[in-house]
Amino acid sequence: MKVPAKDQSLRDLPKGGELCGKVKVPGDKSISHRALLFGAIAKGKTIIEGLLPAEDPLSTAECLRSMGVKISPIEKGSIVEVDGVGLNGLQEPQDILNCGNSGTTMRLIMGLLAGQEDHHFILTGDKSLRNRPMKRVGQPLKMMGAKVSGRCNGNFAPLSISGKKLRGAVIGTPVASAQIKSAILLAALKAEGSTTVIEPARSRDHSERMLKAFGANLEVGGEMGRHITVFPGKDLKGQSIIVPGDISSAAFWLVAGSIIPGSELIIENIGLNPTRTGILDVLETMEASINIINKKDVAGEPVGDIEVFYKENLKPFKLDEEIMPRLVDEIPILSVAACFCNGTSQIKGASELRVKETDRLEVMARQLKRMGAKVDEHQDGLTIYGGHNLKGCELDSEDDHRIAMSLAIASIMATSNSTLRRSEAAAISYPDFWSDLKRLQQKN
Ligand code: S3P
Repeated sequence: MKVPAKDQSLRDLPKGGELCGKVKVPGDKSISHRALLFGAIAKGKTIIEGLLPAEDPLSTAECLRSMGVKISPIEKGSIVEVDGVGLNGLQEPQDILNCGNSGTTMRLIMGLLAGQEDHHFILTGDKSLRNRPMKRVGQPLKMMGAKVSGRCNGNFAPLSISGKKLRGAVIGTPVASAQIKSAILLAALKAEGSTTVIEPARSRDHSERMLKAFGANLEVGGEMGRHITVFPGKDLKGQSIIVPGDISSAAFWLVAGSIIPGSELIIENIGLNPTRTGILDVLETMEASINIINKKDVAGEPVGDIEVFYKENLKPFKLDEEIMPRLVDEIPILSVAACFCNGTSQIKGASELRVKETDRLEVMARQLKRMGAKVDEHQDGLTIYGGHNLKGCELDSEDDHRIAMSLAIASIMATSNSTLRRSEAAAISYPDFWSDLKRLQQKN
């Protein structure tokens, strides 16, 4: 592909071309971050197979390395070894910790560092991350005695953390966010007395599962597992972890396979944790042609392969805040799916999308409208009128990985060719996305 010298990331997106064949998506981003973080504060070695070799987990690894944790190189197909330093073994870093574009890195590390007594830390990130709300983590940590400050009254990075002796607390979180929950659980491991987090709705539970596997004393109770209690005083022990494929990356192929005429895909080795599978429920409502095969349990997480076949006359869907935590990252690609459903789809209760890597409601509405889609944007969601042709045009990921990949799928369905600016954003969570797309199109 020939690209202008000035903009290496401008990508041609030709219209058309069904997707056929098998694809293995890279490791789950949420599980990858946690494997590195928990491995770092465990005693002994943690061996990680299938770790996502993408920019976000690399940010987590770099921060941990700056605090004296030895982590072997993270490369595609490599097994990653983390030499845990124990709950009290992190060193004070010599420089600022750079979390890049990764909200999970910054928020979970805030919890990890809050209780590192007599150590001082500064956390920052790229322009997007420096504009994402951090008080939602700093505030609950302060209830445990943490000292966290930052720009705009502690809401924005750069953040400063002075490690303190923490005390356990009962903390109700205002939003169902696994990042907030996990930060509190990490702080709780070193606090004096037990800590209970109570979520308004259950968010993804990878931290709970993995902390238990590492030997933490943790109880999950309450209605729908919304009450999580950590009893401190137990060391974590290094583990062997197998990271399943990320359902949030598989989502692009699930939707592409369903809406692009003639497509037939098998997406292998996908994590099917029920706190993440909202997209499968939506595809079922749409009456998409999806089969889950080879279901098994791998290292404490359910995993399977998914077959997807193109289906005509897909039904529109309605989403509300109840399902949102189970598909929060899939809203951009689901809004593409909605454009090709027969009728009007409604997404409500999704205001959290406004504080992701970009304001994903605004950006998706803007980009899809450029293609001629009929979309109304609301404070907490989108109304999308399906059944109208999309035309090719100049698109822009606006530096958001999930927007880049969602627009790539939309452009295949357009009536003319498109280009995508800042396409390299996909590498944040799916470095091989563009080559996988090309390969699946060439199978025809
Ligand atoms: C994540 C949780 C979600 C999700 C993010 C990863 C995690 O964020 O959007 O991509 O790994 O805990 P929230 O917990 O803020 O909803």
